Amino acid sequence: MKKADIGVIGLAVMGQNLILNMNDHGYKVAAYNRSTAKVDEFLQGAAKGTQIIGAHSLQELTDSLEKPRIIMLMVRAGDAVDQTVAQLLPYLEPGDIIIDGGNSHYPDTNRRVAALREQGIRYLGVGVSGGEEGARHGPSIMPGGNADAWPHVKPILQAIAAKTKDGEPCCDWVGADGAGHFVKMVHNGIEYGDMQLICEAYHILKDGLGLTYPEMHAVFADWKKTELDSYLIDITADILAYKDEDGAPLVEKILDTAGQKGTGKWTGINALDHGIPLTLITEAVFARCVSALKDQREAAAQTFGKTIARIDGDRAAWTETLRQALLAAKIISYAQGFMLIREASEQNGWNIDYGATALLWREGCIIRSRFLGDIRDAYAQNPGLAFLGNAPYFQQLLQTALPHWRKTVAKAIEAGIPVPCMASALTFLDGYTSARLPANLLQAQRDYFGAHTYERTDRPRGEYFHTNWTGKGGDTASTTYDV
Ligand code: ATR
Repeated sequence: MKKADIGVIGLAVMGQNLILNMNDHGYKVAAYNRSTAKVDEFLQGAAKGTQIIGAHSLQELTDSLEKPRIIMLMVRAGDAVDQTVAQLLPYLEPGDIIIDGGNSHYPDTNRRVAALREQGIRYLGVGVSGGEEGARHGPSIMPGGNADAWPHVKPILQAIAAKTKDGEPCCDWVGADGAGHFVKMVHNGIEYGDMQLICEAYHILKDGLGLTYPEMHAVFADWKKTELDSYLIDITADILAYKDEDGAPLVEKILDTAGQKGTGKWTGINALDHGIPLTLITEAVFARCVSALKDQREAAAQTFGKTIARIDGDRAAWTETLRQALLAAKIISYAQGFMLIREASEQNGWNIDYGATALLWREGCIIRSRFLGDIRDAYAQNPGLAFLGNAPYFQQLLQTALPHWRKTVAKAIEAGIPVPCMASALTFLDGYTSARLPANLLQAQRDYFGAHTYERTDRPRGEYFHTNWTGKGGDTASTTYDV
C-alpha cells in the first residue's frame, strides 16, 4: 500500500479541516489523535470515502509515512506541543520533519527549532489563519523554522493555502526560527486593531449619529465598495442585518464584554520589548480589557451620569468623514504592525520580505482585504520602506483623510464616545510627523532629578551634557541607556 505523504496529529476542528483540504489536493494523509476515539469518529464521519488513513498509535502513524516523514501537529499550543514532540521522537529518524501548525508563542518555536536541530529533526513553526472555513478551503499559511525542511513541505502547504485572484498562494517562506509564528502573532494583533476600529465606527454611527440597524448595514455594505473592502467589513454588514427570532437585531442583545486568547497581548508586550510604538493594537487590547470590566462600568456610568451627545449635521457627510477616519487609522495600524515586524526581522536576522508577508494575508485569513494588495505593491516599489505611510499611495490617502480624521476624533471626544484606536493612531501620526517634540523638556527633567544627561541641538549627536540645575549636589552624571 502506498505510504502516506503526511501525518497530522490533533483532530480538533482545525486539524480535521486541514486534513480534508490536503486530501482534496491529492495528498494521502495519516490522521492521529491522542484520544483515539476521535480517529474512528473522523474516519467514519467527515473522512469517509476519502483516501485518509487513521492511526491509533504514534508507532502506527510513523510507520505509515513516506520518508523523510512529515508530521504536522495541530494540538493545543503550550505544553501539549512539547509533550507530543517528546512522545514522537523515539519513532523518528534524522531528517524527519515536524510542523507545528498551532498558535504557538514564537519564543517557544525558537526554542523547539534549535533543540530539535540538535537531534537532527527539522522543525517548522507555521502560523495558520482562517478559522474552520479557511482550514477547509484555503487558509493563510505563515511558515518559518528550519529552512532545510521547506522544500519538502512547500508543495503541500502551497497546495492547500488560499490563492489570490492571480493564483499566487498565500503561503511562502517567512524566515528562520519562530519567524512564521511571529508573523502570525502580529497578524492576530492587527486583527484586534481592525475589529476595534470597526467597533468604534459602529459606536459613532449608532450612538452619535443615531442610525438604525438597517441604515448601519447599508453603510458597511457601501464601505465594502471602497478601499475598506475586507472580510471584517463584510461580516460586520452581515451581523448588523442579522435578526433574532423576535425580529430585533441580535447584536443588540449580545453582552458587551470582549474575550481574548492572548495573541493581541503578546503583540503589545513584544512591541514594548522592541521599543516600537504599536499604539493602535495595544489600545485595542486595552479596549477589550475595559469592556471586560462590565460591573465596574455599570457602577461608574451611574456615578458619573454618563451620556452621549448626539452628533448634529448631515448624516451622509458625517458617514463619509467617519469612513475616512477609519481608513486612515487602519493604515496606521498596519504601518505600526510592519514597523514591529521589521524591527524583529532585523534583530533576529530573519530577512522577512514585507511585501510577501502582506501577500500571505491577502486571502484566507481574518484580516484579508483589498488593502493588503496595496501594501504588497508599496513594498514591491520600495522594499526598504521604514513607514508604510510614506509610500506615495498611502501618504496620499492619509493626507486626504487627515482633516476628516481630526474632525471625527474631536467630535467623538466631544460627544463622549470612546475612540481609543482612532485617537491613539492620530496622535501617533502627529508625533511621528513632528520634527520636534517636547522630549527636550523630558530630557531636562531626567537630567534634573537623575543626572541622566542630554544631547544638545547645537552640538553633534553622541556628546552628552549634564547641568547642575539647582547649584546644589554634585556634578556626577549617571550613565545613559536606551530601551
Ligand atoms: P478544541 O480546539 O476542541 O478546544 P483542544 O482541547 O484545544 O481542542 O485540543 C486540540 C487538540 O489538541 C486535540 O486534538 C487534543 O487532543 P484530545 O482530543 O485527545 O484532547 C490535542 N491535545 C491537547 N492536549 C494534548 C496533549 N497534552 N497531548 C496530545 N494532544 C493534546
